Amino acid sequence: MALQTVNPTTTVAWSKLRAHFKTIENTHLKALFAEHQNRAHDMTVRWEDFFVDYSKHRVSKETISLLLELANEVGLKDAMQKYFEGDVINQTEGREVLHTALRVPESAQVFVNGENVIPEIFEVKQKIKTFSNQIINGDLKSYSNKPFTDVVNIGIGGSDLGPAMVVDSLSYYKNHLNTHFVSNVDGDHVNEIIKKLNPETTLFVIVSKTFTTQETLSNANTIREWFLKEAPQDAVSKHFVAVSTNIEKVKAFGIDENNIFPMWNWVGGRFSLWSAVGLSISLTVGYDNFDQLLLGAHKMDTHFKTEAFDKNIPVFTALLSVWYNNFFNAESEAVIPYSQYLNQFATYLQQGIMESNGKSVDRNGDTIDYQTGTIIWGEPGTNSQHAFFQLIHQGTKLIPAEFIGFAKSLHGNQDHQDKLMSNFFAQTEALMNGKSKDVVEAELRSQGLSEEKMNELIPFKIFEGNKPTTTILIEKLTPQSLGKLIAMYEHKIFVQGIIWNIFSYDQFGVELGKQLANTILTELQSANVINNHDESTQNLIKHYQDIR
Ligand code: F6P
Repeated sequence: MALQTVNPTTTVAWSKLRAHFKTIENTHLKALFAEHQNRAHDMTVRWEDFFVDYSKHRVSKETISLLLELANEVGLKDAMQKYFEGDVINQTEGREVLHTALRVPESAQVFVNGENVIPEIFEVKQKIKTFSNQIINGDLKSYSNKPFTDVVNIGIGGSDLGPAMVVDSLSYYKNHLNTHFVSNVDGDHVNEIIKKLNPETTLFVIVSKTFTTQETLSNANTIREWFLKEAPQDAVSKHFVAVSTNIEKVKAFGIDENNIFPMWNWVGGRFSLWSAVGLSISLTVGYDNFDQLLLGAHKMDTHFKTEAFDKNIPVFTALLSVWYNNFFNAESEAVIPYSQYLNQFATYLQQGIMESNGKSVDRNGDTIDYQTGTIIWGEPGTNSQHAFFQLIHQGTKLIPAEFIGFAKSLHGNQDHQDKLMSNFFAQTEALMNGKSKDVVEAELRSQGLSEEKMNELIPFKIFEGNKPTTTILIEKLTPQSLGKLIAMYEHKIFVQGIIWNIFSYDQFGVELGKQLANTILTELQSANVINNHDESTQNLIKHYQDIR
């Protein structure tokens, strides 16, 4: 069954929210705290090892109840059922959206075209497990009978960002294998990786759902050529494996049928790290940790499916985001993890969030006249504090931010951990409260400044505050808690897409550039005169040809 197609701006809840916005847009967070006793308590969700505080948001009880009304009015509950039960909610590509099936227990049943797909999923999981164990233990050896030392994941987009982010985030849990990622078609990327490798002890995992992606196939071909300069032809079957839905194309590339890890069309690329696309994760941190990641995601799925909306983490984080995006006209959102391990987290989320919800046509096929997809960006704290926080604190833009922190450090340096977390707490406090004129004045006075100097400096030192943040405090960074966190964002994306009445699971917007690049490539590599572009593109290509 298709998703409902409710234009959110025509709902009763939206009109009420619009009117309500006028009453609250200028209210300071400090006033919201003053008028709502136990606000932090009421606006905190404790779930498993997560403690999520959304009290520092520019919302009242009424705002939340209206946002929940909106969720109900656009049919969120019904959409969730269709999502989990495998309806074709990726309507424009005619596909189910079933990454959640990859993490259910073996006893579950999920049907695609009348067939339970769980046995197939577990067959592939078993293959991932056996293969990972054999590589890690050294039972599977290189062509020259040596244990493998390095793994190279060759893929791009969803076939790179998810595994790369998880491998980096879980590097504390890694084994002796060194895992590298080649994604960009920029030859300097692949060459920089190759130069660190010994072909005799390196395993290559080519990941491409379609096995037609230019970047991935170019890199795979370059690597195979480089490999064959040292190794005999029959070594390819020991060193190259592939993850794909396109078995024929993989075989044509020369990969042994036994070395193919299948995936399915009902798993979108940017949600695929839970499938065999996560093979490099399993190789790097071991299958048991990979399985814990999946378990964490499954727990978040269950929370999302069963929890009341007002205590449902993906639901209220999505609703808050809609509130800022569509009522405050906020242009972007920041995600600031206070853990260096999550260095790649925002980059990973950019594909999930912006490829999914960067749409301007609704589910009726009509052009949209309201804002959809949020711009997402971020870097780990405390580094980001010394880079772009100035703009969040005192700039002209409203940037809601999600702060993610872990109570326990992995290496156990308590002094560093307390310093890190003091910044984590201090920043959300500062963003909310700001610094008033009186406080600035008192501070300057205590420094013995003249009245004149003081008056000159005061305007620059005032912080308005009233900057909204969510705090997600998690006990410890583990494969399981990371799985929960990633799944939380996957569902947040889904909820936003439902509210905005868009199809979140296609990505036609990335096609045009690819097509034009193919045309230009043919032109660059032929001797023909090129004159069918606009003047600017024409000049640029010509200049490139002159100087390359
Ligand atoms: O960027 C577009 C895209 O289609 C992504 O959605 C996908 O993750 C990526 O390209 C890679 O595709 P493939 O896994 O088929 O190589």
